[in-house]
Amino acid sequence: MEILKTIKERRSIYNFKTKTIDNTIIKDIFTYGSYAPTHYMKEPWNVKLYQKEGKYVFVEAIISSYKRIGLLKNDKDPKTIKMIESMKSFLLEIPHHAVVYFEKEADPVRFEEEYAAVCAFIQNTQLAAWEYGVGMLWTITPYMHDPRFLEDIGLNSDNVKIAAVMQMGYPAKVPRDKGRKSIDDKMEFIEN
Ligand SMILES: Cc1cc2nc3c(=O)[nH]c(=O)nc-3n(C[C@H](O)[C@H](O)[C@H](O)COP(=O)(O)O)c2cc1C
Repeated sequence: MEILKTIKERRSIYNFKTKTIDNTIIKDIFTYGSYAPTHYMKEPWNVKLYQKEGKYVFVEAIISSYKRIGLLKNDKDPKTIKMIESMKSFLLEIPHHAVVYFEKEADPVRFEEEYAAVCAFIQNTQLAAWEYGVGMLWTITPYMHDPRFLEDIGLNSDNVKIAAVMQMGYPAKVPRDKGRKSIDDKMEFIEN
């Protein structure tokens, strides 16, 4: 079965070609993602795709956030300016950034259900992407937890949570398979 091969062969991608992915292909990939299991058919996932000129707003919001939370200095020191420029160009070179977010639930059980469904959506999407020759990197970054960052990209942190930011593009380099521990170390059969 092709899916079993894809599950094993998919890798997180850290180096992308500059070529962008057509919106129709992106929509196909996320459509496969949306066949993830979802309790009460809530389909809690939402995606904002930053690409082409749209990346500038997103990258500026990241830099502002890093300055606010102290990961970048907020001064005119040439070293700081150089660091900011290299961070900007690194982020702008990634062809697509997909912000995956969902409506927060007040009830912790419901919250977990929604987060779990969104994670299933993300992994389905990564597997579908691989079938299209598209690579992704699942990232969880400090700015995702900065309310002002959410505001800067048009989201209200009172109501929504960002689950992940997915970097996307055609792989320039596919990392080696790091393998996995034996499942025997992770499971037990209880039969009586
Ligand atoms: C919830 C989650 C968050 C992750 N966040 C990051 C991240 O912020 N930066 C990163 O380089 N990789 C991140 N990864 C990717 C893992 O590093 C990667 O899946 C792991 O090294 C195994 O490699 P593989 O996906 O190629 O099998 C994340 C993965 C998951 C599931």
